[in-house]
Amino acid sequence: MRQREAKSDLASTGGARGGPMALDAAQASASPAVAATARILARLKDQPGPLLPVLHAVQHELGCIPAEAVQTIAEALNLSRAEVHGVITFYPHFRGEPAARHTLEVCRAEACQAMGGEQLAAHARQALGCDFHASTGDGDFTLEPVYCLGLCAQSPAVMLDGQPHARVTPAKLDRLLHRAREAGQ
Ligand code: FES
Repeated sequence: MRQREAKSDLASTGGARGGPMALDAAQASASPAVAATARILARLKDQPGPLLPVLHAVQHELGCIPAEAVQTIAEALNLSRAEVHGVITFYPHFRGEPAARHTLEVCRAEACQAMGGEQLAAHARQALGCDFHASTGDGDFTLEPVYCLGLCAQSPAVMLDGQPHARVTPAKLDRLLHRAREAGQ
C-alpha cells in the first residue's frame, strides 16, 4: 500500500506534474529511491539537458536506476517512461540492478577488437560464468562492456573497479580477477 502511494507521489499531483509541489511530495516519499531521486531532480532538473546528469547522479547515489526512479524522473522532466528507459538502455553505463562488489569492464571497441579483444571478452565471460550486463552468482563481479578506454595503443584494455589495465591477456585477466577476489571489498 505504502509503495503504491510512493509510486504515485508525482502522478497524484495532477496539474503540478513535475513542478515544485510534485517534487516536494516525492522528496517526502516513503520510498528511499523515490525520495533520493526527487532530491536530485530538485537540484538538477532546471539545467539545460538535465536527463543525463540526473541519471548519472541517481546511479551514483543508489548504485543503479531502479524502476520507481524512472517513473519519478519521467514525471519531473515531462518525458514518457519509455523515453527515459530508452536513454538508460542506450548507454551501457546505466544499470537497473545494483552492481556486484567488483565491476569488470572489457573494451569492445575497434582497436581492442583488432588486438584480441573478442577472445578476451570470451575469456572474461567464461572465467566469471556470466554474460555482459550481468553479475556472478556469488555477487563478486559485474561484467560490463565499455567502448574505448583511451588505451587503444596498448590494447586490449579493461577497467577493473575504475582502474584501467592495458595489454591484457587472458592470463593477466585471471590474475587481476584473482587479486580482486583476494582483496574482497
Ligand atoms: S578501443 Fe579499446 S581502449 Fe580504445
